[in-house]
Formats: sequence, structure tokens, C-alpha cells
Amino acid sequence: MTEHNAAPAAALQRLSALLLAAERAQAREHRDGYLDLLGDSAVPSPGGGQDLMHTGLVPLIYERWWRPALGRVAKGALGPSMQDEHRIAIELLELGAGDLVLDVACGPGNFTRRFGARVGARGLAVGLDGSQTMLARAVADTRALAGRGADNVAYVRGDAAELPFKARSFDAVCCFAALNMMAQPFAAIDAMTRVLKRGARIALFTSCARGPAPRSLLQGVVGAASGMTVFGRDELTGALAARGFQDVTQRVAGITQFVGGRRG
Ligand SMILES: C[S@@+](CC[C@H](N)C(=O)[O-])C[C@H]1O[C@@H](n2cnc3c(N)ncnc32)[C@H](O)[C@@H]1O
Repeated sequence: MTEHNAAPAAALQRLSALLLAAERAQAREHRDGYLDLLGDSAVPSPGGGQDLMHTGLVPLIYERWWRPALGRVAKGALGPSMQDEHRIAIELLELGAGDLVLDVACGPGNFTRRFGARVGARGLAVGLDGSQTMLARAVADTRALAGRGADNVAYVRGDAAELPFKARSFDAVCCFAALNMMAQPFAAIDAMTRVLKRGARIALFTSCARGPAPRSLLQGVVGAASGMTVFGRDELTGALAARGFQDVTQRVAGITQFVGGRRG
């Protein structure tokens, strides 16, 4: 591990304790400061939208420019700001001191770090992503904020569709701006359900079909251009209800939706 990107050993140890035994046995600490469970493998990609996340450039500009700009287009001029999104996530997750929270498809850790600050020293915020370049950025940026949750934030490289954690490990699971670019979004929802404790909360932010065009037409255009999924208006709320979630809520903004629920 390089001195520059060394992650706090205590945070990685606490993360390691949450892993399934087989995953823990094969986990190796990457020199960029995260636990790597994939090695030379890559998460399956449905197309160009996700492929961009593995480049060197996008993680560099992601938090400051890329995500706010694309988010504004997708959420609409009057939709929630990035600041609002952080608040919405924390509210949907009901995050408090001491919670164990998993940020699935965490990118450069732009939400994970906030969660770390919120859960405090007794809690732990774990960011999981499939992209090496995103995770290197997440560790470096978290380290730069040492003292604001960095000791209780840890990152792991893995596949959202096959989460490597023991069942019922987390008090809250977040997945923002990512289900739409996954090859197997419903397998990821199954995996998130498995790792949540009973009564624990989930928060999702992703695409939502709106307007006069039928969803199949939107999906055809968006899917062909980027490989991304446009979810139907009731598809995710229905998916959570079908998996036994209670208190399922939805807030639609532009062509996006925030969905929350509590595991039954
Ligand atoms: C647009 S970023 C979202 C980052 C952050 N959650 C946010 O809201 O800004 C999407 C991330 O999903 C990750 N991703 C996509 N499919 C994945 C999978 N199957 N497993 C893990 N990460 C995945 C990509 O590597 C990328 O970093």
C-alpha cells in the first residue's frame, strides 16, 4: 500500500469483519487503500454509460462537475440540488450515530463520506464499487478530509449484484445514481435486501419513465445510446414491496425517482 493512499487500518478491519468468510479469505488490500474482492475480474457492464466510470478522467471531474450537471438535467430545473440529495438520502436512511451503512456503487465516495460524518466514530460507512479508478479517488478524497469521518469510512471493490457481506449486516443501504447503469439491477436489489437487518432502511435514486412517450420507446433510445435502464414509474416501489419492504415511499423529480423503504 502506498503511503499516500493508505486507508485507516481500523476502518478496513471493521469492514473485513462484515465480509462472508469466503470473501474475507480472498480479499486483498489494494495499494490504493481499498479492499479488492475482484482482482482481474470486472463487474458486468451493459454499455457505454458504465464503461465511462472505469476511465481515469470521469472520477477526476465526477463529484464537482459531472454528477451535478447530469443530475440537474435528469432531475429538472426545479428538482433537488446535490445538497438536497445528501439530505434526502440521510432522511430516507434515518441515519444516526452508531449506524452501519453501506453505499452501493459509491463512485468517488461523494455520499459515503457524508454518511461517515453522520454515523460518527461508533458507526461505519462502507462504500462498494466495481471501478478501480472511482475507488482510488474515493480513498484519496476521504483521506484528504481526515477528521471528518475518515476513520470510520472504508471502501471495497465488489459487484453490487453479489454483495460480499454477511446477511443482515447493515442498518441502512443506499444506492444512488447507479441501478440504471447495472447489468443486473434486480439482482442488486436482492443482494441489498439480504444484507439489511430487519427493520433497516433502503434508499434508491435512479431513472424514472415520465411523459407521453411509452417506456419501451424511451428504453429503446436510452438503452441503445448508453446501455442504461429507464425504470417504469412503479417498477422499483413494486420490487421493494415484493421483497417485503414496508413504508415504501417515492418522490419523482424530472426523469428520476427517489425510493425509500424499511425491510420487513
Ligand atoms: C454514477 S456513479 C454513482 C456514484 C454515487 N453513488 C452518486 O450518487 O453520485 C455509478 C457507479 O456505479 C458503479 N457500478 C455500476 N455497476 C456496478 C456493479 N454491478 N457493482 C458495483 N458498482 C457498480 C460504477 O462503477 C460507478 O462508480
